[in-house]
Amino acid sequence: MAEAQAQQRGGYADDGPATAEGGVRLEVDGEIATITLARPEKRNAQTFATWSALARIGESLPEQVRVVVVKGEGPSFSAGIDLRMFTPEGVPGQGSFGSAAKSDGADFEQRIRQAQAGFLWLRRPEIVSIAAVQGHAIGAGFQLALSCDLRIVADDVSFCMKEPALGLVPDLTGTKPLVELVGLAKAIDICLTARTVHADEAMRIGLAERVVAGGDLDQAVREKVAQLLSTNRDAAVATKRLLQGAQARTLEEQSVAEGIEQAARIKALFG
Ligand code: CAA
Repeated sequence: MAEAQAQQRGGYADDGPATAEGGVRLEVDGEIATITLARPEKRNAQTFATWSALARIGESLPEQVRVVVVKGEGPSFSAGIDLRMFTPEGVPGQGSFGSAAKSDGADFEQRIRQAQAGFLWLRRPEIVSIAAVQGHAIGAGFQLALSCDLRIVADDVSFCMKEPALGLVPDLTGTKPLVELVGLAKAIDICLTARTVHADEAMRIGLAERVVAGGDLDQAVREKVAQLLSTNRDAAVATKRLLQGAQARTLEEQSVAEGIEQAARIKALFG
């Protein structure tokens, strides 16, 4: 309840230990929620606590929110998974990959599913999510940016899907949006070489909607948020639903879906 009130006020809301431990901050200002990865001294490295904090934000997001901005404090958006996960000691209270390897495989798959929940909700039709990305977006950081609908980036951005170089696969929901954005060949190139994609290429291949100078990133995001909030809310939700379903439907099916959505809009507006 106190959390909800803090969110309604638009102030800083720290929703308990998971959020604090995850290094994630949430601020809600009317229709806009801003999620900040707030561990700049560790380049916003992510842990399981980060992912549970993100999932909890998704579960408790106030209904009035239409736009969610995801950003990182400091020079890097996020340097990916906390490398302590690769050490025998792991992250205090969260274990390590070494301990996970000794456990039942099904348990670990379940843990991955829970982590993915922190990313998946950013695609909901009810919101538009924008990643504001500066500096490094590596591994889990790249995937967090990919889990948003739009990416506005600073000119120093460097995306890198480092997982294959570490013997892993990208498993935080990033593979599908990457393929959809850049195509299969380019996604294979980017992931299987673990190379860096800089701002000019990100713009050219459709990873980024806009590139701006680092100092202009916040302003560019504010402009996009204002544009997004300028349209009718229910029409925006219905249109996003249509666009998200388009690839999986035939043209005929999509046309039918458009008709169904439009009939509902007309009824709501003029019925
Ligand atoms: N985990 C934990 N700590 C990290 C970190 C990470 N991923 N990335 C950076 N840090 C820490 C550094 O250890 C350093 O801490 P100290 O000051 O205590 O020494 C601090 O953040 C600053 O780091 P740098 O001095 O290295 O900063 P930089 O600006 O010179 O370099 C960087 C930034 C290029 C991101 C570099 O830190 C780096 O290469 N980090 C590791 C990136 C990485 O390999 N991430 C894993 C990706 S794979 C993934 O995410 C897998 C998955 O989902 C399963």
